[in-house]
Amino acid sequence: MTEAAVQTFELTRRFGPVTAVDRLDLAIGRGEIFGLLGPNGAGKTTTLSMLATLLPPTSGSAVVAGHDISTGKDAVRRAIGLVFQDPSTDEELTAWENMDFHGRLYGVPRAKRWKRIPELLDMVELGDRTRHRVKTFSGGMKRRLEIARGFLHHPKVLFLDEPTTGLDPQTRRRIWDHILEINRSRSLTILLTTHSMEEADALCSRIAIMDHGSVIAMGTPAELKDDLGGDVVSITVADGTDPVESIFDDKPWVRTVRSRDGQVDLTVRGGEDHIPQILRLLESAGIEARSLTLKKPTLEDVFIHHTGRGIRDSEADTVERMRQRRRAFSR
Ligand SMILES: Nc1ncnc2c1ncn2[C@@H]1O[C@H](COP(=O)(O)OP(=O)(O)O)[C@@H](O)[C@H]1O
Ligand SMILES: [Mg+2]
Repeated sequence: MTEAAVQTFELTRRFGPVTAVDRLDLAIGRGEIFGLLGPNGAGKTTTLSMLATLLPPTSGSAVVAGHDISTGKDAVRRAIGLVFQDPSTDEELTAWENMDFHGRLYGVPRAKRWKRIPELLDMVELGDRTRHRVKTFSGGMKRRLEIARGFLHHPKVLFLDEPTTGLDPQTRRRIWDHILEINRSRSLTILLTTHSMEEADALCSRIAIMDHGSVIAMGTPAELKDDLGGDVVSITVADGTDPVESIFDDKPWVRTVRSRDGQVDLTVRGGEDHIPQILRLLESAGIEARSLTLKKPTLEDVFIHHTGRGIRDSEADTVERMRQRRRAFSR
C-alpha cells in the first residue's frame, strides 16, 4: 500500500468537559479530495487545526505528508497549505503583494514567485486584479485569492476549512471548479470540511461524516448512498387497483416493496436502469400507473439514517442555542 498523505491514530481533543474530536482514525490517500462533512460543532475545524499543528491533540497522533504533527511541526507546516474560515488576507495590500508576502514567508525564491503568482491569480480569475487592494474585493474574490495563496508554495496537502460558506451559489460553483482544477493539475491531496451535502457530493472522492467528534460513516458518496439500499421508485396507481406488490415479488433487483394508499415504493439499486422493466411489468399485469418517480438518496438521507436527524435540523439547533446564549448574556 502506498503511504497515506494524512493518517490519524485515535486523534483526540478535549476542551474541558467537551470532547471535540473523539479517537479519530482516518487514512487519506495521495491525490484524494477528502471531505469531513458534519453539522456545526461536529469537530471538523478542531481536526484540521490539529493536523495543521495549530492545536495540540489531547491524545492520539497523526502523520501529515510523512511527518508527525507533534514531533515534526515545522516539516508539517512547510508541507501544507492552509485556508481557514476567518479571512486572513491583508486588506491594505494588493492581491499580488499578499501572494508575494506569503511566498517569501515560505521561502519560495523570487523567480519562482514571479512566475507563479500571475499563473495562480489567472487560474482563480483574478488576473485583471493583481494590483488592486484586497479591500476592494468581494467575499468570493477574497476566498479565491486565499485558495490561490494556499497553493503558492506547492504544498503536498491543502487544508480548506468550509471553503464556500457564506458565498452565493454562483461563486461557490466557481470555487468548486478551481478546487477540482488545483487537485487535478498537481494530484495534490485536499482535505476539506463542509456542512454542505451538495459541496461534499460535488467535490469529494471520499467523505467521513462526523457528528459529536466521531466518524459515523465513511466512503465514497456513492457507497454511502448505496448503503441505504438503493433508489426509491414510487408508483401511484388508479384507485382500487389490487395488490401491485406481488408482481415485483420474484425480481432480484427489487430490494424492498412497500405499499400505502395507492402508492407503491420500491427500493431498487440503480433505479433508472430498471424503469423500463418496471413499466413493462405494470403493463403486462394490466395495471395503469398514474405516475412514476425516482428518488436518489442524498447525503442528507445518509446523515438521517445514521443519526436520526438531518444536518439541516442540527444547524437549526445550533442557531437556536446561539440565540439562547446571546439572550442569556444580554440579561
Ligand atoms: N477553543 C475552544 N474552546 C472550547 N471549546 C471549543 C473550542 N474550539 C471548539 N470547541 C468546541 O468543540 C466542539 C467542536 O468544534 P469545531 O471543531 O469548531 O466544530 P465544527 O468545525 O465541526 O463546527 C464544539 O462543541 C465547540 O464548541
Ligand atoms: Mg468549523
